[in-house]
Amino acid sequence: MGKSSEITASTYNNLPTQPFARDDRARGSTVVEYRTFRNTDPPRLVAVWNDAFTQRGAPRLSNNTLIERYVFAKSIFDRKGLFVAESNGVVVGFAHAGMSRNPFSTQAVGTTCLIGVRPAHQRQGIGGELLKRCEQYLRDQGAEQLTAGGHWPNNPFYMGLYGGCDSPGFLKSAAAAEPFFTKHGYRVDLSVQVLQRKLDQPMKMFDARFLPLRNRFDMQFGTPRRLLSSWHEFIHGYLDPLQFILNDRQTGSWVARTLVWEMEAFSIHWRRPTVGIFDFEVNPPYRGQAVGRYFLSLIMKYIQDQFFTLVEIQLDENNEAGRRFLRSLDFEQVDTGQVFVKSIQ
Ligand SMILES: CC(C)(COP(=O)(O)OP(=O)(O)OC[C@H]1O[C@@H](n2cnc3c(N)ncnc32)[C@H](O)[C@@H]1OP(=O)(O)O)[C@@H](O)C(=O)NCCC(=O)NCCS
Repeated sequence: MGKSSEITASTYNNLPTQPFARDDRARGSTVVEYRTFRNTDPPRLVAVWNDAFTQRGAPRLSNNTLIERYVFAKSIFDRKGLFVAESNGVVVGFAHAGMSRNPFSTQAVGTTCLIGVRPAHQRQGIGGELLKRCEQYLRDQGAEQLTAGGHWPNNPFYMGLYGGCDSPGFLKSAAAAEPFFTKHGYRVDLSVQVLQRKLDQPMKMFDARFLPLRNRFDMQFGTPRRLLSSWHEFIHGYLDPLQFILNDRQTGSWVARTLVWEMEAFSIHWRRPTVGIFDFEVNPPYRGQAVGRYFLSLIMKYIQDQFFTLVEIQLDENNEAGRRFLRSLDFEQVDTGQVFVKSIQ
């Protein structure tokens, strides 16, 4: 303190009072102001993104296009749920909260979808202040449960932009997330495995059990006319996924189905053309007959023929059968997602 550029009591008096709130804790000499989103913010948020999210699960953004698409363009976007921290007119962090509007949820769940502070401003309480505002916003929206880290169906924003082929919560490769949320009263509710398979290595396609399946089933793919629900449209529609379906020739019934999308931004980030697979499902009567293996092998062969070199799937950690299934197809774990939860007092 003592230099002319530093903040004094009279400086505080000249700063606007609303909608700002200030954190002038003694840790740093600058005043941090908090406000909600403005239409001119996107380029500044992209700058924070590129500074704060440098891990494997968050692609570098070269402009606003993707964040507009996966966040601001959604009709459910509410500017009052996105909080910005500014220091000396520069955006140094932001956090974004949103309610899950899944029509089948039995509880009102509010999620802190993303939080990032520029490295030079971390460990000064800014993340904590942003999180507090997110929680208050969610409470005001009627949340009965607070979660942090998007995971279906509580992932209103950022699917396609953060976390990989699906929303896995916050990735462990973002090392600060777990201590940060634990410190703020959250606990890990769910872990998600992020699994990848390289396609520029040989694929063992032969399995004697596939032979009869070839005659019984047909694979089709195309743009789905509609997704399973309006909430699916809100979350998955923005990815423009293709649907692959295996049909039973005799009965006409679906045997297995999944959605597949081209992970463009991640492909650039990882320097590998990558495809994401999610909502992979074998119709229960057809389970236990190597159908899943056959279907996924066909899809991977198709993707490989299109010159993609990596495929990603995510799986809840307690899905032991799924894990064995994917391991048998040479998928390897590359990261772990964590969904945090905090009970409302
Ligand atoms: C996670 C993040 C938002 C925290 O922001 P922050 O402003 O540094 O957080 P705070 O200063 O409010 O930290 C509060 C507490 O969280 C814990 N914490 C925060 N960062 C930590 C770290 N890197 N290692 C261990 N504990 C950490 C500490 O207990 C800290 O209290 P302390 O400083 O008194 O020890 C910030 O580290 C960040 O932007 N990281 C990169 C992006 C990211 O990973 N986001 C989460 C996934 S989207």
